[in-house]
Amino acid sequence: MVFSLFRSGPRKAGKILVAFASQTGAAERIAWLTANALAGARPVKVTALGGLTAAELAQAGTLLVVTSTYGAGEAPDTARAFARKQMALAASFKGLDYAVLALGDRKYDATFCGFGRELDRWLAKGKAKRLFEIVCVNGDDDDAAMGRWAGQLNQLGAATSGAALMPGAPRDWTLVERRLLNAGSPGGEAWHVALTPRDDATWIAGDIAEVWPRNAQDSVDAFLERHRLNGELSFKWHGHWTFLRDIIAHSRLPNDHEVEGVALEWLVQRLEAFVPREYSIASLPPRMELLVRKAVKNDGSIGLGSGWLTQVAEVGGVVKLRLRPNPNFQPPNDGPMILIGAGTGMAGLRAHLLHRARKKIGGAWLLLGERSAAHDLYYADDIKAWQADGTLEKTDLVFSRDSEPKRYVQHLVAEQGVEICAWLDRGTSLMVCGGLEMAAGVQDALVTICGQEKLDQMTQDGLYRRDIY
Ligand SMILES: Cc1cc2nc3c(=O)[nH]c(=O)nc-3n(C[C@H](O)[C@H](O)[C@H](O)COP(=O)(O)OP(=O)(O)OC[C@H]3O[C@@H](n4cnc5c(N)ncnc54)[C@H](O)[C@@H]3O)c2cc1C
Ligand SMILES: Cc1cc2nc3c(=O)[nH]c(=O)nc-3n(C[C@H](O)[C@H](O)[C@H](O)COP(=O)(O)O)c2cc1C
Repeated sequence: MVFSLFRSGPRKAGKILVAFASQTGAAERIAWLTANALAGARPVKVTALGGLTAAELAQAGTLLVVTSTYGAGEAPDTARAFARKQMALAASFKGLDYAVLALGDRKYDATFCGFGRELDRWLAKGKAKRLFEIVCVNGDDDDAAMGRWAGQLNQLGAATSGAALMPGAPRDWTLVERRLLNAGSPGGEAWHVALTPRDDATWIAGDIAEVWPRNAQDSVDAFLERHRLNGELSFKWHGHWTFLRDIIAHSRLPNDHEVEGVALEWLVQRLEAFVPREYSIASLPPRMELLVRKAVKNDGSIGLGSGWLTQVAEVGGVVKLRLRPNPNFQPPNDGPMILIGAGTGMAGLRAHLLHRARKKIGGAWLLLGERSAAHDLYYADDIKAWQADGTLEKTDLVFSRDSEPKRYVQHLVAEQGVEICAWLDRGTSLMVCGGLEMAAGVQDALVTICGQEKLDQMTQDGLYRRDIY
């Protein structure tokens, strides 16, 4: 929710505004924890950066920005219009104290924390006073960076630690079912993967599962035995106490010469941990279902995360998983909804349709693209049921390999432009899920149909939401 802050009246000393810009929930989570940590010492407010103007920022007193970076060094969706309109202004921030926490990922080398850095430069250029250097965070287990941020918050009156700001440890889930959905497809294998939690877990449509790939159990056991290591020993690893057998399972297995004669603590600190992979949750509690495309690389090897889920992990075995609430893709309301996606994007859309079916909300329009009607219409039975019970008012499917020239879901969007506009004019929400290229094509088509201003406004109102990768 966006609310206007510090619009008028004298600036009260000591107030802190925490502004966040988040695509998949990580920055938003840290913004709230940051505010909670400060709340005992200072009056704090939290709001989405995208809802503010440069003039409102200038009046904030002390501003803490927590933001991620998306696309190629760009702002998350909810702050794109802010970046385009407000950051184009040469604003004056004299009297404003600020600091930036920038979330990013070093695999995006050239644009690492790009938007956070741009924001930091823009505020400094407007003569705002930097309270401390920008803190750049690599992935979600960067305890060193979070420790630095916590240390700075403590200088502002908080009493917190990096560990308190980190996401919780992953939990054990059981892999209960795995089924190939598109045998014979001209595209990559798509698998339905089902898991159940070993303790309580809940989520809502739009949320994300972070899955930790791991080495097969046989290779972990063999490694521990070969090097006479006790798997039950615990070490502080990426912020959490973890058994050695789990550390070995979730790291690239070192070569024998890297282990021999080396102190165990030293080895553990140098192991290259597997990075978790994110998946849009395709179901509602209590059973988690994922739609996973098995990635096959040019050399024929399988992707670490998708390979683990679709091929390596044993049915009945443990999968380490952490739930991530994703407010920016949760249901905005119970009104009409247009759902657009392609390929595994059906995962995120399916959770919404299951949610609407469960609540008996009609008025949804699904526009979906895949490769071939004969092989790639996942969840066809669900679609039939949603059509029959009124959850789906309208369904448009397109299969690129079944037509010449190839047609994709963005072509459907362009063709249905007039009707899409009519739906949007009556307050319909618009959810897009799937790959970046598809999402960019759909966005271009939507801009042509209804204009950038309309999309900006819908984003601002939480009616245009994307889960894209
Ligand atoms: C929000 C979100 C939702 C998603 N939802 C789905 C979904 O519903 N279904 C689906 O199939 N996929 C989904 N994905 C994609 C998924 O997370 C994986 O990227 C995909 O499964 C391929 O991963 P892999 O490990 O199998 O392949 P890999 O090739 O092993 O890795 C894939 C990516 O990870 C990078 N990578 C590899 N190793 C490292 C490393 N050591 N450190 C850092 N990066 C590394 C690579 O550059 C590559 O981009 C989603 C992604 C996001 C961000
Ligand atoms: C499609 C995609 C594009 C991304 N692009 C960048 C990038 O250009 N630079 C960067 O540092 N991080 C990039 N990231 C990583 C995110 O910034 C990082 O995962 C962050 O923790 C997400 O926080 P959020 O959930 O608040 O959006 C990208 C992530 C995705 C899924």
